[in-house]
Amino acid sequence: MRALRLLPLLLAGAALATPLAAQMPAERAAALVAKMTPAEKLQLVHGYWYPTQTPATPDLPAGFVPSAGAIAGIPRLGIPTLYESDASLGVANQIEERKGDTATALPSALATAATFDPALAEAGGAMIGAEARAKRFNVLLAGGVNLTRDPWGGRDFEYMGEDPLLAGTMAGASIAGVQSNHIVSTIKHYALNAQETGRMVLDARLDDAAMHESDLLAFRIAIDRGHPGSVMCAYMRVNGDYSCENKPILTDILKGEWAYPGWVMSDWGAVHSTEKAALAGLDQESGQQLDAKPYFGPALAEAVKAGRVPQARIDDMVTRILTGMIETGLMDHPLPATVQPIDYAAHAEVAQRDAEAAIVLLKNEHGLLPIAKTAKRIVLIGAHADVGVLSGGGSSQVRSVGGVPVEIPLTQGEAASFARITYHASSPLKALQAAAPGAAISYVDGSDPVAAAKAAAGADLAIVFAWQWQSEAQDAETLALPAGQDALIAKVAAANPKTAVVLETGGPVLMPWLSKVPAVIEAWYPGQRGGEAIAAVLTGTVNPSGRLPITFPAAEAQVPRPTAIGLDLLHKRDAAGNPTAPLPMFQVHYPEGANVGYRWYQKTGATPLFPFGHGLSYTGFRYAGLTVQGNEARFTVTNSGHRAGIDVPQVYVEAADGAGVKTYRLAGWSRLALAPGQSQQVSVTLDPRTAATWDGTAKRWNVPTAPLKLAVGHDATDHALSGTVSLKAPEGM
Ligand code: BGC
Repeated sequence: MRALRLLPLLLAGAALATPLAAQMPAERAAALVAKMTPAEKLQLVHGYWYPTQTPATPDLPAGFVPSAGAIAGIPRLGIPTLYESDASLGVANQIEERKGDTATALPSALATAATFDPALAEAGGAMIGAEARAKRFNVLLAGGVNLTRDPWGGRDFEYMGEDPLLAGTMAGASIAGVQSNHIVSTIKHYALNAQETGRMVLDARLDDAAMHESDLLAFRIAIDRGHPGSVMCAYMRVNGDYSCENKPILTDILKGEWAYPGWVMSDWGAVHSTEKAALAGLDQESGQQLDAKPYFGPALAEAVKAGRVPQARIDDMVTRILTGMIETGLMDHPLPATVQPIDYAAHAEVAQRDAEAAIVLLKNEHGLLPIAKTAKRIVLIGAHADVGVLSGGGSSQVRSVGGVPVEIPLTQGEAASFARITYHASSPLKALQAAAPGAAISYVDGSDPVAAAKAAAGADLAIVFAWQWQSEAQDAETLALPAGQDALIAKVAAANPKTAVVLETGGPVLMPWLSKVPAVIEAWYPGQRGGEAIAAVLTGTVNPSGRLPITFPAAEAQVPRPTAIGLDLLHKRDAAGNPTAPLPMFQVHYPEGANVGYRWYQKTGATPLFPFGHGLSYTGFRYAGLTVQGNEARFTVTNSGHRAGIDVPQVYVEAADGAGVKTYRLAGWSRLALAPGQSQQVSVTLDPRTAATWDGTAKRWNVPTAPLKLAVGHDATDHALSGTVSLKAPEGM
């Protein structure tokens, strides 16, 4: 979208003699709009949920497997049909009609964020985009970048963590990867969609400055980096108005302040009005059968006829949709006529590289890991580690290549109607057996803690696999591991002090057994090659390099909201025996303001279990020689251990929020591989927005002019090196 920002959007009617390819996207879009009939324009601003449902799209190709939705194209003008699929972690195929389909499943987005490696995020996006194109999808509902405010959030696994710079950078890279296939990626769910409980009704309350400095900053950075063709507005309300009919966030900020040239599509079932939504800046109603009525269908035509919505607004909607399609190359690179073969073996490698880099070594006392050559009898316990690894639930669910070894339907909960607990066929047991052929490696399922402890007692090493399933539509009600797993781990660790725990969780969990367990790794939802990646880290073939993109609290009481706001309403409603009745509207306030995640811990003086940015290695890294020049911090990183490894040195800058509360914020980082004993100078460019405050009256960033404290560390609490920086705001910031 970069080129487009230079041009004001051209209105319909411009006479253009330039050849197509040489025209700017906005010019081409405007020229097309000028040729369209009123009915054709209206056709583009609303879409259908699953194109198999009535009314069907006109030109469905034979053999096409439907997904989230479609918008009928206009063949006479060369405007293709838009085929939409969810694709946060792979081309999603959770709906019944796609049951026979498979796709490559990446690790969770939170796991990808833990790599701190934009190149891996981009490679993952490029892989998903390639599969989507081969399956004949050209609009991907990917790019989740809601800032994680709560560790129990049901969709935290679909987002990129709690820091705006990290989340925005990683999501932007992933979007750029998707769009390198000449298809559109969305960014979602705009904005402040921090919890699932009551997502259809809640009203998120946050002041304009705090919003700019946190959640909106993540979106802004991702949009600047990835240039997504489309933005998806969310279900809930923001400061009183539904996101999809919210003029301040859609028109004033996104399209005004940020000059975003693409289109705003609604989430599925997130539209509540015709005029209000159209005038507030919604450009396309998605999956209209899920709304109370097709608000952008005949009702919009009538509103235009009656002069309640100006024709110019419709032209703007269509211009934006076409601009996103042209700018990304979708228009000039038609989808293949038939479904194409996919190189699943190569794509599985992409998933495995991502999972390997995402795994975080949280704790490793007495060098328990990597597994010693002397460990001849190893027992794996729990979480179906004999057959697979867990994945998160909801619209992002991918049925991966290799099948589904475990699938558990839900009997209760908000996600019960559409989500199932599903495992990818990637067996940690088999992978470990292959990686350590000299050892006798067995599995017990952990359902009987006494039997598990007995098996552990007779082994040289016990590895407990623990799970926490998270899903779209519902939040975890507690941060404790479910199903008695804490007791299982405690019992196994008591039977054998050489116990390691592998976590497959959506996000942070509590670890009451931590002092008894010498080694813990966080594998997240590791995707369809998760078993292999876990085995590579356990055996040391891969030296762990993941870093936490989210703080792990020591107790639920440490976080701003120990449980989801509105859970009480949910429970009351369910107790009344009508679990499908809509919840009443309620407000969610954010006392942390822009001090999200690790900044909240600094503000409150709480010590987390594991801080943001934390992650160990089988080697060690030392920092020295800090110098700061302009917005650049330079220092030397040395691998001080005996193994090759990858480090992620992080640079934090201390700045005050609007209320004068000072916190260190991530302003940049590096990621580098070093041989044992090797030193390398790194240079980290700091993003001044991370230290700035938003002036809502002047509508601009204020970057502090006084020198700010700067820390280089291994995590958000570490000040291995310190200095000062006088940040310079770039032109036009
Ligand atoms: C989700 C979106 C998704 C859409 C289409 C909604 O329920 O919130 O993330 O893209 O469904 O499947």
